[in-house]
Amino acid sequence: MKLKLTTAILASLVAMTSPVLAAGTSAEAGWNEAGGEQDEALTLTPDHENGIYTYEVCSACHQLNGWGLPDGTFPQLSGQHAAVIIKQLADIRAQNRDNPTMYPFALPSEIGGSQSIMDVATYISNLPMNPENGMGPGTDLEHGEALYKDNCVRCHGEEGEGMADKFYPLIQGQHYNYLVRQFQWIRDGKRRNANPDMVKQIEGFSDADMEAVLDYVSRLRPPADKLGEPGWSNPDYDW
Ligand code: HEC
Ligand code: HEC
Repeated sequence: MKLKLTTAILASLVAMTSPVLAAGTSAEAGWNEAGGEQDEALTLTPDHENGIYTYEVCSACHQLNGWGLPDGTFPQLSGQHAAVIIKQLADIRAQNRDNPTMYPFALPSEIGGSQSIMDVATYISNLPMNPENGMGPGTDLEHGEALYKDNCVRCHGEEGEGMADKFYPLIQGQHYNYLVRQFQWIRDGKRRNANPDMVKQIEGFSDADMEAVLDYVSRLRPPADKLGEPGWSNPDYDW
C-alpha cells in the first residue's frame, strides 16, 4: 500500500511538472532542439558596431584578440562558426551547458537579447585566429591521427573545420587543455548539451586515446587566411 501511494504521488508530480517541460525547456528537448533565443538570433542581421561593443565584456576572459589562453582556462573563440557561438551562448544562458564563471556576464541584463548574441557571434567569428595555440605533448600523434580519421572526420571535418550548418564546432587550432576538458565532460556526461551521436562514437575511448586524438586536433592548422600574425592586437579596441 505504501508503495502504491508513493507511486501515486510521483505520478501526480510528473503530471504537475510535465507541462512546464513541454513548454520547451532543454530537459525534454532533443539535441539542438531547444529553439528559443538560438532560433531567433539566427534570423537577425548582424550589427558590426554592436558586436564590438558587446565583445568588450567577453574580452576580460577571452582576451581582446579572442585567442583565449594557451593553458586552456579560456577557450579561443576567434574563427569559430557564428552558428556554433550562437548555440553555445544560448545553451549557456538557458543553463543547458554549465559555465558558472561566465554565466553572469552572458545574461540579457549584461549584454542584451538575441540581437546582441547575433552581433557578438558574427564579430568573433571574423577575428583572425591564434597561430600559437596550446598543444599537447606530441608523443602519440600517429595513434591520434588514426583515431581522428576513424571517429571524428564525419562531423568535425578532415582539418577540424567543423560544419556551420549542422552546428558542429570548428576544433582546429584550439588549446589542447580546453579540448581535453570538453571531450572528457562530453564522454563522461557532464556537458549537458553534448551531441548524443558523438557520445556514442567516443564511449570506448580511454584517457590515453583521448589525449592522443586531441593532441592531433590541437595541431590541425587553420587555413592561412584565417590565421593572425603572432602577437596581433585588435585595433577595434585602440582607444
Ligand atoms: C569571467 C570569464 C568569462 C567571461 C567574461 C566570458 N566568458 Fe565565455 N567562457 C569562459 C570560460 C571559462 C569558458 C569555458 C567553459 C568550459 O570549460 O566549459 C567559456 C566558454 C565560452 C564559449 C564556448 C566556446 C566553445 O568552444 O564551445 C563561448 C561561445 C563563449 N564563452 C562566449 C563568450 C561571450 C560571447 C562572452 C561575452 C558576452 C563571454 N564568453 C564572456 C569564461 C568567460
Ligand atoms: C556525430 C557527430 C560528431 C562526432 C562523430 C564527433 N563529434 Fe565532437 N562534437 C559534435 C558536436 C555537435 C559538438 C557540440 C555539441 C553541442 O554543444 O551541442 C561537439 C563538440 C566537440 C568538442 C568540444 C568543442 C568546443 O568548442 O567546446 C570537442 C573537443 C570534440 N567535439 C571533439 C571530437 C573528437 C576528437 C571526435 C572524434 C574522436 C568527435 N568530437 C566526434 C559532433 C561530433
